[in-house]
Amino acid sequence: MLDPFCGRGTTNFAARMLALPTLGIDSSPVGVAVARAKLVDSSPRSILRAAATILTDVAEPKDIPQGSFWEWAYAPEVLQSMCRLREGLMANAKSPARTALRAIILGAMHGPRTKGAPSYLSNQCPRTYAPKPRYATAFWQERGLRPEPVDVLDVIERRADRYFAHRLPKPIGAIRLADSRERSAFARLGRRFRWVITSPPYYGMRTYIPDQWLRNWFLGGPSAVDYSQTGQVTHASRAAFVSDLGVVWQRVSDVCLPDATLVVRFGAIQDRAAAPLELLCESLGVAGWEISDVVSAGSAGDGRRQADHFVRGRSTAITEHDIWATRRGSGRGWLPQRWPCWPRRCCKHKA
Ligand SMILES: C[S@@+](CC[C@H](N)C(=O)[O-])C[C@H]1O[C@@H](n2cnc3c(N)ncnc32)[C@H](O)[C@@H]1O
Repeated sequence: MLDPFCGRGTTNFAARMLALPTLGIDSSPVGVAVARAKLVDSSPRSILRAAATILTDVAEPKDIPQGSFWEWAYAPEVLQSMCRLREGLMANAKSPARTALRAIILGAMHGPRTKGAPSYLSNQCPRTYAPKPRYATAFWQERGLRPEPVDVLDVIERRADRYFAHRLPKPIGAIRLADSRERSAFARLGRRFRWVITSPPYYGMRTYIPDQWLRNWFLGGPSAVDYSQTGQVTHASRAAFVSDLGVVWQRVSDVCLPDATLVVRFGAIQDRAAAPLELLCESLGVAGWEISDVVSAGSAGDGRRQADHFVRGRSTAITEHDIWATRRGSGRGWLPQRWPCWPRRCCKHKA
């Protein structure tokens, strides 16, 4: 199972649970760090030991970010521990325990304050994306919300127990940090894929990297919001977006078996793109994929959809679809001749 836009590795983890070999590719360092942890075997004991070893080895971190955001975001001793863990993991995050530890800290870095034992290291924050420093600092100051001291090892231990206490099927596969538009991202695979299950960037969503600036800092990135779009599919224009996706679908096709099936979950911010399905299908068509089915996956709004992470602060919803496709010539697909009939078609399933 191949996912050329694997993000945090949801599909790769599903493949692992089904004992399928899997490859995930993503150009976001944060997504890749989290996805890699879904393909390791570790235990709460070795994760906690890895954390304790780093905290002993790195007594004085070389680099502690300064400024009011950092003072309000984390209690001083929590920030100190985070910097020590950051330095230790930047030097070496190769073992399964360290890979797991890194992802656990990424998950715990920011989130809401809860009753009882804290689950997050930060002051009151959103969980899915990092707030912009000026906005967040003003929010905390206006409400007099001081960051609380949190027992970092305790948070790590509880998370390690939650995610790594159970024996899972042996992982078969890898996660690559790469740009899926590049041929090199698919080099030296040694296998061809029968299933491609993926979810490319939603049209109009350009904030995958800046939204994760705080987690990206933990991985060695800058201590300020990173607005760069390096390695990301372009949203500069509709045509450029279709062309970029087309390149990825072509690369994917090159490493697939002739009877491969591609399933794409796709959506768009509605006020930005009137016809997301048309756009996605166009990109598949140029790369030789034919549609075999389109199924509505519902709309954002219940808090559980992938799209719910993207719509914050926007008045419009995101509608998601699952598009099934096969390689041209397999005899299982069809190419719609008239795009305007898409919205009706998508729910009638080839009526
Ligand atoms: C909709 S998200 C995928 C979410 C994923 N299903 C998950 O469970 O987290 C789209 C992903 O595409 C990635 N992406 C965008 N352009 C890319 C490119 N050129 N190469 C590889 N990944 C890219 C983004 O970093 C983002 O993680």
